Amino acid sequence: MSRPPVTLHRLAESKAAGEPIVMVTAYDYPSARAAERAEVDIVLVGDSGAQVVLGHDSTVEVTTDEMLVLARAVRRGIRTAFVVGDLPFGSTEVSDEQAVATAIRFVKEGAVDAVKLEGGTEARLSRIRAIVAAGIPVVGHVGLTPQTATALGGLRAQGRTADSAARLVTDALAVQAAGASLLVIEAVPAEVVAVVLPALEIPVIGIGAGPADGQVLVLHDLLGITEGRTAAFVKRYAAIGDDMAAGVRAYADDVRGRGFPGPEHGYPAGEDAVAAARAALDASRG
Ligand code: KIV
Repeated sequence: MSRPPVTLHRLAESKAAGEPIVMVTAYDYPSARAAERAEVDIVLVGDSGAQVVLGHDSTVEVTTDEMLVLARAVRRGIRTAFVVGDLPFGSTEVSDEQAVATAIRFVKEGAVDAVKLEGGTEARLSRIRAIVAAGIPVVGHVGLTPQTATALGGLRAQGRTADSAARLVTDALAVQAAGASLLVIEAVPAEVVAVVLPALEIPVIGIGAGPADGQVLVLHDLLGITEGRTAAFVKRYAAIGDDMAAGVRAYADDVRGRGFPGPEHGYPAGEDAVAAARAALDASRG
């Protein structure tokens, strides 16, 4: 029996019942199908796709149009998971009106259930309030916010100094008060997250933030597709990148060694078809 669609109400029930919520990123139809078949609760069409599928150095390069292509592909692969679309850098910064217009595009064109917005400054809170007022659920994201990593001194853990820990608590509470339905906390010591968790009624999804109400990881990190070093909080569950390279290498070796294609990889033709092909070639020579 297939499970019913995951809703915000269901996620709130999971939090109340102490059932861990599972969230993972996806960027295309096959990754969405993998997430759906694994029965994850939330699929995030993350702007991390800028790096892991589009090959950029950071998340800031990805555009709204590119994110919408990814979101639509993911939506086609999802039947029951709750789908969240990440609003990319530059698509919300100008004004509340710009943020609402972008969020509406994500719902209408990307068919997402909610949008995610990074940050907890007054301007970001205003965007959250405006999008929520337009009837679109918002997922907040505090702690390490990669879109503004330069201002944070690089891609580094937050909440490790007194000032930063206090800011994390203030931001998390303010994002909740602004109307967010869920909150992602990234790269913050578990002890600091534990201080604010009891004051958060909305489900909190951690990434490098200790045991929250749920966890999120980037799909390409957990599957071992990402090349090179990953963040300390990543746990690898497979080595798909190596398997992919080995598979393509085996194919290349087979083609070069004339082992592929074999007769079983083609189509049979009757003698009359071959004779007609020869006759056509002869006729073309005059
Ligand atoms: O874009 C992304 O993948 C994210 C997660 C790391 C939460 O924002």
